[in-house]
Amino acid sequence: MSASVITVETRENASQNLIIQRSDSQLSLQGRIRVPGDKSISHRALMLGAIAEGETQIKGLLLGEDPCSTASCFQAMGAEISELNTELVRVKGIGLGNLQEPVDILNAGNSGTTIRLMLGLLASHAGRFFTVTGDTSLRSRPMSRVIKPLQQMGAEIWGRKGNSLAPLAVQGKSLKPIHYNSPIASAQVKSCILLAGLMTEGKTTVTEPSLSRDHSERMLRAFGADLVTDPATNSVTITGPTQLYGQTVIVPGDISSAAFWLVAGAIVPDSELVIENVGVNPTRIGILEALAMMGADIQQENLREVAGEPVADLRVRSSRLKSCTIAGDIIPRLIDEIPILAVAAVFAQGTTIIRDAAELRVKESDRIAVTAQQLNKMGAKVTELPDGMEITGGTPLVGANVDSYTDHRIAMSLAIAALNASGKTTIHRAEAAAVSYPEFFQSLAGIIK
Ligand code: S3P
Repeated sequence: MSASVITVETRENASQNLIIQRSDSQLSLQGRIRVPGDKSISHRALMLGAIAEGETQIKGLLLGEDPCSTASCFQAMGAEISELNTELVRVKGIGLGNLQEPVDILNAGNSGTTIRLMLGLLASHAGRFFTVTGDTSLRSRPMSRVIKPLQQMGAEIWGRKGNSLAPLAVQGKSLKPIHYNSPIASAQVKSCILLAGLMTEGKTTVTEPSLSRDHSERMLRAFGADLVTDPATNSVTITGPTQLYGQTVIVPGDISSAAFWLVAGAIVPDSELVIENVGVNPTRIGILEALAMMGADIQQENLREVAGEPVADLRVRSSRLKSCTIAGDIIPRLIDEIPILAVAAVFAQGTTIIRDAAELRVKESDRIAVTAQQLNKMGAKVTELPDGMEITGGTPLVGANVDSYTDHRIAMSLAIAALNASGKTTIHRAEAAAVSYPEFFQSLAGIIK
């Protein structure tokens, strides 16, 4: 008999409850998993493909809700994108400056990357008018972080609450280049400005306080942009106008999705998992560094380079974890993995401190508050800090009624916590997982032995 039962209950309003019922017998996780394509790279491949000249072929695209939002926005502006699938997506690019004025409101759904990166392109399409919105969560997330630098470039953008919240209206203009010193390490801010710089005559530079993920820099360069980075100052300069040319993009597995299995394999006794084909870009592997500090047994195997991104298979075996401190420059390299790292910390000996992560408060949910509240419902000892959490590990978890707050990463983190909790855990609004990992529940059921 299986040591645990996983049931998905669909409610009348299409919301789903994920129920994880632990029996008394021992449970272990075994097997090989292929995680879906990297979300950040999937967005960028669709966007650059749409505005490049010629055809872009995308292999391994993430079929989550977020990249679907990006595809539908760019289709509404004239790009021809074939049916989305993981095998091969063909994007017929329309060339620099040729995004058409959409006849309706663009909808970025739940996706901060879609709206923020796209704004750089919309703002620089002179003479065209755009409106853009998103779901309840996205309409409450701060847009001033991209609107302010775009306004410095001469952009005209209007929105709610002093031009800071979507829905937004954009009157495209010819922009002027700037050197922007970003107060936050954000790949969305950096990428937005670089995309605005594509069509802008002259040198547009972004400097960030510490290096955020560099997928835009890698892909823009591969598509032919004139782009120079200065690692000594965390700066990147694009010289515009610069035409892009369609390429083949092979999307690696998303390390942010692999993170759930890395933590699951580490905390569930007698487990061994191999997560295949995972992107291990140095700007994304903070999770591997943090878990190594906690004593996790994780090996990178078959390290290789695929279409400009490093890729490896990750083998994790369960081990005793200990607490650590996660703060400073590592934070942008693991920002999306903090909810699942908090789960690891709950099962580690000692008190783990996470700081310098105030950004978590403006993600798909307030991830500091929601992670602390939901894990505490299961008996964890998590204290909120203004910019992080203090987590005292070692107390056994007990199944409870918890809620994702419609945040995909919270839904999946709670499912992994539930694997190691006694009794029954019900995760409400678990369907949120489909934003980045539609097959998460099936993969979970497949590795439980
Ligand atoms: C992303 C950047 C990060 C990350 C998000 C994806 C990207 O956001 O949290 O999930 O693809 O550029 P910030 O740039 O706001 O840190």
